[in-house]
Amino acid sequence: MQIYRNEGDNMQVKQWISQEEVEKRIAVLAEKINEDMGMTPLHLVGILKGSVMFMSQLMKHLQMPVTIDFMKVSSYGDGTESSGNISIDLDLSEDISGKCVLIVEDILDTGRTLFKLRDILNKRGAESFQICVLLDKPSRRVCEINADYVGFEIEDKFVVGYGMDYAQEYRNLPYIGIME
Ligand code: IMP
Ligand code: MG
Repeated sequence: MQIYRNEGDNMQVKQWISQEEVEKRIAVLAEKINEDMGMTPLHLVGILKGSVMFMSQLMKHLQMPVTIDFMKVSSYGDGTESSGNISIDLDLSEDISGKCVLIVEDILDTGRTLFKLRDILNKRGAESFQICVLLDKPSRRVCEINADYVGFEIEDKFVVGYGMDYAQEYRNLPYIGIME
């Protein structure tokens, strides 16, 4: 068991889903997207910062013409639950009208973030709009929203690594871990 300990505090992270397992699953997700989209150009919108590692791995396997952009929204403080309000901290650099957009996000938790974001982006005239998340915690949902592509459905556990943080740390871990 791989344990990561942060200097100065006694929180530790236990590996839960190995890098190999995560990346095998991401390849399967990408294969599904390839089957569904064919050679239709796809515009990936990564939600910063949590989606960075996931999106990097996912797009390696996509076969259609791909363009990427990023957006940063905040609804989460340094705690463990989203606030219900989102603010756009960094907006897209390109217009999405007429594009097939795939939102790439780390976790669908309460759903508040993606619910509001979907509303914002729908008004900008994308040709189609789908959501791909690495992790889904359906038992936590308070808003009516589901992802089109889900890596792993998980229980109500707080995870870090593979891009995901606790108070901005642990994003670099190459596996998905649980805080203990
Ligand atoms: P939602 O608005 O509650 O769906 O929150 C989604 C966002 O909360 C995700 O994009 C994550 O950034 C963050 N989040 C939710 N659960 C976790 C977790 O277990 N670990 C790290 N971040 C999380
Ligand atoms: Mg996030």
